[in-house]
Amino acid sequence: MTTENTLNHIAIIMDGNGRWAQERGLQRTEGHRQGANNILTIAQAAIENGIKFLTLYAFSTENWKRPPSEIAALMSLAASFSTEHLDQLNQNDIKVQVIGRIDDVPFSTRNSILNAVKKTKNNRALTLTLAISYGGRAEIVDAVNKILSQPRPSKRLTESDFADFLYQPDLPDPDLLIRTGGDHRISNFLLWQIAYAEIYVTPTYWPDFSPQDLEKAISDFNSRTRRFGALK
Ligand code: FPP
Repeated sequence: MTTENTLNHIAIIMDGNGRWAQERGLQRTEGHRQGANNILTIAQAAIENGIKFLTLYAFSTENWKRPPSEIAALMSLAASFSTEHLDQLNQNDIKVQVIGRIDDVPFSTRNSILNAVKKTKNNRALTLTLAISYGGRAEIVDAVNKILSQPRPSKRLTESDFADFLYQPDLPDPDLLIRTGGDHRISNFLLWQIAYAEIYVTPTYWPDFSPQDLEKAISDFNSRTRRFGALK
């Protein structure tokens, strides 16, 4: 059965950069570089397909366990994405925001990213949320700690009250979660927000993920019946 599904927000686990590089005899960091280069292409394709929110898993709380050289390369790519693509982000009317423990990110990278956030804050075509030093469990724990640091609430919290303490409370839940690179795992991404997301896994590695692949994922989403736990 086919129904009209509203697709407002796509979240992507950009996996497979390392394998993309290794299969070509290249350093893993070259895969990350190609992956970073793909972000704007996919953001533009998202806009062309009427998507208003795109959230990308750029660096997880667990990625700090990678070798220092790979961490440094990823931090440097995040910084150069935020500086070198700033004009293009503005030309495409893309607003950048971040989720994650941004205070753990080295100063220069953090500065570059927060500068892009500031310089793109009035853009409206697409909200591009970069998850950096992000973990779904960390986000929930950070929300609980924010709640505990406030005067004791006078009533029991609802789900919606709780969600107000997440990193970006105005970000709607993703409708579609795409994972590239073929693994069927959530990897600690948006644990609270993906409760009812449709999941789409493609074997394509992130550096090869094209606007056509995005359209395939969207048409797969459009063929799903979303019930949100109800009977329809
Ligand atoms: C997973 O591939 C990908 C990452 C850990 C990093 C994703 C980062 C980028 C695409 C670019 C940097 C970010 C910005 C904001 C410009 P993997 O290394 O786990 O791949 P593998 O599973 O093939 O080893």
